[in-house]
Amino acid sequence: MMIFKNKTDLMAHVDHLKSEKKTLGFVPTMGALHQGHASLIIKGLENNDYVVVSIFVNPTQFDNKKDLEKYPRTLNSDVALLSEISEDSILIYAPTVEDIYGDNVKSTSFSYDGLEHEMEGKFRAGHFDGVGTIVKRLFEIVRPDTAYFGEKDFQQLMIIKKLVEKHKLPVKVIGCKIHRAKDGLAMSSRNARLKPAYRSAAPFIYKTLTAAKEKFGTKSANKVTDWVTKQFAKNDLLVLEYFIIADTETLKTVKRKSNKKTYRAFIAVYADDIRLIDNIALN
Ligand code: PAF
Repeated sequence: MMIFKNKTDLMAHVDHLKSEKKTLGFVPTMGALHQGHASLIIKGLENNDYVVVSIFVNPTQFDNKKDLEKYPRTLNSDVALLSEISEDSILIYAPTVEDIYGDNVKSTSFSYDGLEHEMEGKFRAGHFDGVGTIVKRLFEIVRPDTAYFGEKDFQQLMIIKKLVEKHKLPVKVIGCKIHRAKDGLAMSSRNARLKPAYRSAAPFIYKTLTAAKEKFGTKSANKVTDWVTKQFAKNDLLVLEYFIIADTETLKTVKRKSNKKTYRAFIAVYADDIRLIDNIALN
């Protein structure tokens, strides 16, 4: 298993692979890898000669210092999980903050044609500037043919597609279905931090999303939103931050349904101090 700690070595190796006409997939992560990440990597390996997996907890995308400090860092078990998938075809890039940012740990400001102002953008100031900064930088270092992102962070996926389009970055971005635990909870590195009572309560999020989807067949977006809000008000452990039914293309909250459009429901919930997000396609 090749592990690169600095971009100079990784870039030299990528140059070599490119000179041999090898194709490169890329799965950027913040580590604490789980089966959701594994599914992206396996997809990457099916379609490319090699897959680069970056493991980097990016400080500039955290709006909350405590969240950044507490974010799980599990490099050894991450490497073990990747070795089980493939010893030869995965390259790990696990840089230091300095390797990425030098001594200027700041994000660049990006415009994503308004996508950044919806949902997560309202609740996590500067988050998508941090994501754009790191993803653009990683694309420039890794120079992949194709990059894979999970639909759990659907807004992030849309924003990265916009980033690629606006900056004409030579990479194809593929969105991959949400990977769920058997009880429906969307896989997330944050799940590892849930205390048992909260872990048991958390599948309520997906259960409510699937019920909301069913209701959306006959009811307005407002009615469904009120219903979801009431369900969480009755839940002692989970605190709803937002539930929004949005147009899949613009991510703007839907006012009146049209059968020409597709919609998705998005949710953010606190389980203790851990913030969980999820979403579901509605039609
Ligand atoms: O989705 C994530 O894990 C992160 O936002 C990403 C894309 C790796 C950028 O740090």
